[in-house]
Amino acid sequence: MWGLKAVATSLLVCSVLGAQNFPPDFKFGSASSAYQVEGAWNYGDKTPSIWDVFIKNDPSVIIDHSNADIACNSFHDWERDVEIATELGLDYYRFSISWPRILPTGKQDRISEYGMKYYNNLIDALLEKGIKPVVTMYHWDLPQALQDWGGWLNPLISDWFENYARVLYSLFGDRVKTWLTLNEPIIFCELSFNTGKHAPGLASAGEGNYICNKNAMLAHAKAWRVYDKEFRGKQGGKVSLANQYIWLEPRTNSPIDVEATKNARQLMIGMYSHPIFSKDGGWPPVIERIVAEKSKEEGRFLSRLPGFTQEEIEVIKGTYDFLGFNFYTARAVNKAEDGVDVGEWPLSGSKDLDIQLTMNDEWNKTDAEWLVEYPVGLRRLLNWLKNEYGDIDILITENGYATNKTIIDDQARVNYMKKHLEQVLLAINEDKVKVRGYTAWSMMDNFEWCDGYSLRFGLYEVDFKDPKLKPKPRTSSHYYTNVIKHRSLDFDDTTSNIITDEL
Ligand code: NOJ
Repeated sequence: MWGLKAVATSLLVCSVLGAQNFPPDFKFGSASSAYQVEGAWNYGDKTPSIWDVFIKNDPSVIIDHSNADIACNSFHDWERDVEIATELGLDYYRFSISWPRILPTGKQDRISEYGMKYYNNLIDALLEKGIKPVVTMYHWDLPQALQDWGGWLNPLISDWFENYARVLYSLFGDRVKTWLTLNEPIIFCELSFNTGKHAPGLASAGEGNYICNKNAMLAHAKAWRVYDKEFRGKQGGKVSLANQYIWLEPRTNSPIDVEATKNARQLMIGMYSHPIFSKDGGWPPVIERIVAEKSKEEGRFLSRLPGFTQEEIEVIKGTYDFLGFNFYTARAVNKAEDGVDVGEWPLSGSKDLDIQLTMNDEWNKTDAEWLVEYPVGLRRLLNWLKNEYGDIDILITENGYATNKTIIDDQARVNYMKKHLEQVLLAINEDKVKVRGYTAWSMMDNFEWCDGYSLRFGLYEVDFKDPKLKPKPRTSSHYYTNVIKHRSLDFDDTTSNIITDEL
C-alpha cells in the first residue's frame, strides 16, 4: 500500500518539475453566456432579446425545438454557478451580461434593479471566492427593442452600444477589470445576416453581413474609447473583444491554393481584426478590393462592403488592451473551380473570393458537424497572429469540445483540452507568443443556440429534464482542476487512471 503511494508521489514530484509547466502568471478560466445559461427570460422588467423572439416566432429554428426560457436557471441559481467555479479552482469566470436584462429599452433611460442585483451578486460572490469576473458585454442577445430599430444594420447601433458600455463600466467597473465588448462578431454578422440561421434571421447574403461587420467594428471601438477616456484612470482595467478564429490551411501546395488561403485568412480573421489590431487599420486591402470589383461586375455603383472614412479608421485602430479569441476548429482552403457552388457556409465572402473551405479527412471529428479537431492549428494561428499584428498579449477566450450524448467519463473532451493546451505551451515556450490565459467552454452544458440541448460542451453535465438542474462533474472537470492546481500538464493524471489503496 505504502509502496504504491510512494511511487505515485515520486512520479508526481518528477513530473511537476518537467517541461510542461505554465508560466506562474498564466490564468485559467471557464465561460458561459447570458442567453445560454440564465433562463428567467421575462423575469421582472427584462424585455425579450432577439433570440427570445426568434425562437418564439418559430420553434423549429432550434433542432430539438427547445428554448432557453429556463436554460440552466443561472439567474436564480447563481450561487450554484459560483460553487462550481470554486470547485474547479478557476482563476476567472467569463460570463456575459444580457443587454435587455440590464437596460430593458436597450437605451440608458432605465436601468433595471433586477438586472443590477443579479450581476452584482454574481460578481461579488465570485470575488469573495478569489475568482475574477471576465465580462462579455454582448453575447448575441440584442434587445428586440433595438432590433425593431434596425439592430446591427442601423449605424446608430455603435452609439447605443457605447452608451450601454458606459452603463456597464459605471455599474460594475469598480470590480470587473477585464471586459470583452463583442463575442464572435463574425458569427453574429454571418449567421444572422448571411445565412439567416441565427436571430434575427434576416438573410441578405453579401450585404447585411458586411454592414453588420462595419457597425460591429465601430461599436467595439467606441466602447473601448469610452473606457480609455472616462474610466481607465480610476478603474485600471482592460478591454478587448472575443473574436472567433478558424485556422485555415491550403488544401494543396499549389500556388493558387496557397494564395486562396492567404485571402481566406484575411476574410475569416482579418475582417474582424485588421481594423483594430493592424498598424494601418481599415479593412484588409485585398478583401476591400475584391468585393469592390465583384460589386462593380454586378452593376452596382457602391461596393457591398461599406468603406470606412479616414476618421473611422482612426477611431477603430488600436482599440485593444490585449487580443482575445475563441478557437475550436480548422478548415482546408482551395480555389473553387468555375461554376462550383461554394455553399452558404462559410460565408458569402467565399463567393466573393471564389474559395471553398472544407474539412480535412485526417482531422478527428466530434459530434458537432462543424467541429473537427486540429490542435496544431492553434499554435499556427498564434504564430500567424504574432506575425500579422505584433507581439500582443493574448487571451484564449474559449476552447471546447462537443458531444451529443450525456456522458460523465468524457475522455474525448479531456484529450481535446490536453492537446490544445500542449499547443499553447509550445507557442509560449518555443515561439514566445504571449498567451496569458486559457478559457474552457463551457463550465456546464447549456443552450447551444440552434442545436438546443442536443450538443453539450460542459465540464459539468446538466440533466435538463431534472427540474433541479443540478450539474454533475465530468471527468474533464477533474482533469481541468488538476491542470489548474498544478499549473502544468505534467501531473499524475488520476482522472483517467485512478490509483486507490485497494489496488
Ligand atoms: C462560441 C460561442 O461563443 C458560444 O456561445 C458557443 O456555445 C460555442 N462557440 C460552441 O459552439
